[in-house]
Amino acid sequence: MTSGSARSFDRQWAELAEIGRHPQTGGYRRYALTREDHDLREWFAGEATDRGLDLTLDRMGNQWAWWGDPDTTPGLVTGSHLDSVPDGGAYDGPLGVVSAFIALDRLRASGFLPWRPLGIVNFTDEEGARFGVACAGSRVITGALAADRALGLRDGDGLSMAEALRAAGRDPELIGADPETVRRVGAFVELHVEQGRCLVDLDHPVALGTDIWPHGRWRLDFPGEANHAGTTRLADRQDAMIGLATTVLAARSAATAHGCVATVGKTVITPGGVNAIPSAATGWLDARGADEAAVRRTVDEVSAAAADWGATVTEESWTATTRFDLDLLARVREVLPAAPLLGTGAGHDAGILATAGIPTAMIFVRNPTGISHSPVEHAERDDCLAGVGALTAVLTELLGTEPAGARP
Ligand code: GLV
Ligand code: MN
Ligand code: MN
Repeated sequence: MTSGSARSFDRQWAELAEIGRHPQTGGYRRYALTREDHDLREWFAGEATDRGLDLTLDRMGNQWAWWGDPDTTPGLVTGSHLDSVPDGGAYDGPLGVVSAFIALDRLRASGFLPWRPLGIVNFTDEEGARFGVACAGSRVITGALAADRALGLRDGDGLSMAEALRAAGRDPELIGADPETVRRVGAFVELHVEQGRCLVDLDHPVALGTDIWPHGRWRLDFPGEANHAGTTRLADRQDAMIGLATTVLAARSAATAHGCVATVGKTVITPGGVNAIPSAATGWLDARGADEAAVRRTVDEVSAAAADWGATVTEESWTATTRFDLDLLARVREVLPAAPLLGTGAGHDAGILATAGIPTAMIFVRNPTGISHSPVEHAERDDCLAGVGALTAVLTELLGTEPAGARP
């Protein structure tokens, strides 16, 4: 690894470090269409223009920085996202974007001439932390999420995405599927921090992705009746929290029984007073697993438990099993033959593009604890630089030789 790459990594990492970082928790709060999101997008645009890349926005506001003209020949794209979950870590998303810029610099510095364009993307709203649907940026442009539905999604303050777009100076009318942008992407390679702990045991700094588990999000709304916490007999209560709490435990049991994972990580209790019986309770279920039928059985059982308490259950998103392109994986393995193969329970824009028919691959960089979606998420600097080296080698292969026949 050249010292220039290391310096570039350190500079970019330092520039991103304070954007959206919460002073108390040390975690990142980088939500779509906020001030922090704006600052991150400005940073991305600055990196692109400093390199003389052509910066374009698609109909969902995803940012694309092109070296070469993808309207002449569809390009190879790398990159990731810059938004975060509430109190997320520094690496989930930004590692892929920073590594992409450095890999491009290394190709250029070596005098390399690609046979097709190279693009770097910053997908908007990957985590769905504000409006509830993950990978909204890639879902909308590929048509997997209809514009009407996206624009009607509401954040925790009741503001719709359409209103948030207007507040950010953007035109909601422009939002929609964008086949022209999608057509420019001949193949996609996303580098991402490992989520879960495998590579430390396998003693390797990078792995290649094989598939993404089926996963989804469901909204559970429990009814109740507001009343006084001190004067209402237990028998007379309609406490929305009891249904939600019981259903959270049912989710744990169902996931255990079916070999899946299930989480209720977000709740809203109304009115939210210590001395007021909850008149409504909403929880969001996240369920995933290796086997689609098992995830569906888990969710059916949770839904039945919720229905016993009069709750309504709404599916907010569902992503079926995603398998990455076998031909592309084979080619990437020729470059990184020692890299282990990993499946993942985490969702990614790479999965959405793969489902849209774009040959897609993922490179994971070792996470020593496996912890992610947390302020303590970490990757060693040397491993990050090994990830840049791996990405550069993969781009060199995929951009260096025009494939014969149908090779991506
Ligand atoms: C995104 O990181 C997800 O898997 O929820
Ligand atoms: Mn994430
Ligand atoms: Mn991510």
